[in-house]
Amino acid sequence: MSNWWQTGIVYQIYPRSFQDSNGDGVGDLPGIERRLGYLRELGVDAIWISPIYPSPMADFGYDVSDYTDIHPLFGTMADMDRLIAAAHDHNLKLILDFVPNHTSNEHPWFLESRSSRDNPKRDWYIWRDPAPDGGPPNNWLARFDGKSAWEWDAPTEQYYLHSFLAEQPDVNWRNPELRAAMLNVLRFWFDKGVDGFRIDVSYRSMKDAQFRDNPPNPNWREGMDPFKRVIERYTRNTPDIEHFNRWLREVSDEYDDRVLIGEINLPPHELVAHYGRSLDGLHLPFNFNLIYTPWEATAVRQLIETYEGVLPQGAWPNWVLGNHDQHRIASRVGADQARVAMLLLLTLRGTPTMYYGDELGMLDGEIPPEMVQDPWEKKVPGLGLGRDPERTPMPWTDAPNAGFCPPEATPWLPLNAEADTVNVASQRSDPDSMLIFTEKLIQLRRETAALNQGSYRSLPAPDGVLAFARQHGAQIRWVVLNLTGAAKSWTLPEASGATAVLLTTESTLPALTATTLQLRPNEGIILAIA
Ligand code: GLC
Repeated sequence: MSNWWQTGIVYQIYPRSFQDSNGDGVGDLPGIERRLGYLRELGVDAIWISPIYPSPMADFGYDVSDYTDIHPLFGTMADMDRLIAAAHDHNLKLILDFVPNHTSNEHPWFLESRSSRDNPKRDWYIWRDPAPDGGPPNNWLARFDGKSAWEWDAPTEQYYLHSFLAEQPDVNWRNPELRAAMLNVLRFWFDKGVDGFRIDVSYRSMKDAQFRDNPPNPNWREGMDPFKRVIERYTRNTPDIEHFNRWLREVSDEYDDRVLIGEINLPPHELVAHYGRSLDGLHLPFNFNLIYTPWEATAVRQLIETYEGVLPQGAWPNWVLGNHDQHRIASRVGADQARVAMLLLLTLRGTPTMYYGDELGMLDGEIPPEMVQDPWEKKVPGLGLGRDPERTPMPWTDAPNAGFCPPEATPWLPLNAEADTVNVASQRSDPDSMLIFTEKLIQLRRETAALNQGSYRSLPAPDGVLAFARQHGAQIRWVVLNLTGAAKSWTLPEASGATAVLLTTESTLPALTATTLQLRPNEGIILAIA
């Protein structure tokens, strides 16, 4: 087993926030190119870049107005060609974001589609007549504001569907011409040498063909996320989503060695269907369940066992702890647990996806109300749903603007308050920093088959401790994680011959005897077994 997307580590770059190269306060492609050396040194294998295509930026690039070009904010097609080549020179794979569920309302396809009822592209989008009372065709809701997902188009007297903003009309994957056009987008980028795609809300791409109402959510209360008023039975994960997955897979199979990673927010037993009946679906349906599981040893162990238990034969697992839609892991579990979380992510069986800045233990940023950018926060302020906090600029140095953009520029989101201490340069020179810890961990994972491809087995552990074995052939490693702020004593589960602590989140080794390991608060370790 040696696919790069199985043993490798994926690193997500939110391009607006990684490195600005031209002083406009927004990160760009030449900025990413400049930092490839950093990524190589960190030790990751692939970068996934959130959308960089032309876009009116109603949803910061997830509203695409041209799938086969580059937004001038991020650079030019020549910059992209150079970045692909440079990434490959650095032995890094490059994954782009494919947004197939919707386009921008400024995409030429949509402009045509809305121009008249008999336009040839009318059916490329989802147009419906009003309900008998003149209102929206059904009760489907839009993400972000939780209002109707149907927008009235007065000139043609029909509604169009938008699962997100009204500026993001949903396309109709049941239309063969739309489908062919979208699949050609994949070919365009594969031909350029792109190694794979992360597929935005892939599981929403097919809606119920009968447009049935979603059932009401009996647990919804005033003050909760308004979108949750209904249960999403007919707007995502419909039975025919397997066709969609297969259409994409057939295209990626025209090329060697590419990967498809689906953005799918589902519990393990539903998620795994996206691998396809004979593994002919997505290579990696993203597994976000660690994000939604309480940070508590029993719950995490149960999740791992459940997921391992439902994975189809031959399907490759994957794990995620953060992305541009989730509060940062260090803010969610607390700074003291950030290293334990990284150790877990990088030692579970399967492909890990890291989020930029998490290797520094970066926290959510504070966004003053007048600097809010995210449409989600603007639509439903104060519910804590806004995503700006996890999208703040990468801190590279302790200079003003942290080396993200020139001191005189204005970054598109404010730098984190702690950027003068939590930054790459200062952590690079501190042997006990989170960055150096993460580099050592990645290095160990790279050189240890048990960790990058071995089997998984839970080990007994006291309350608050998560312990598991990874094994490849005769090579065995034990991972023991103290998910609490109290010291813990772990009795070695077998007359084991645990020989050495290979890595700890602390700066000194823990006490290890033939029978017991003493874990300090918030400590995680990797043990070698003879
Ligand atoms: C996905 C993206 C998110 C975006 C949404 C609509 O969930 O990760 O950032 O807002 O899709 O495209």
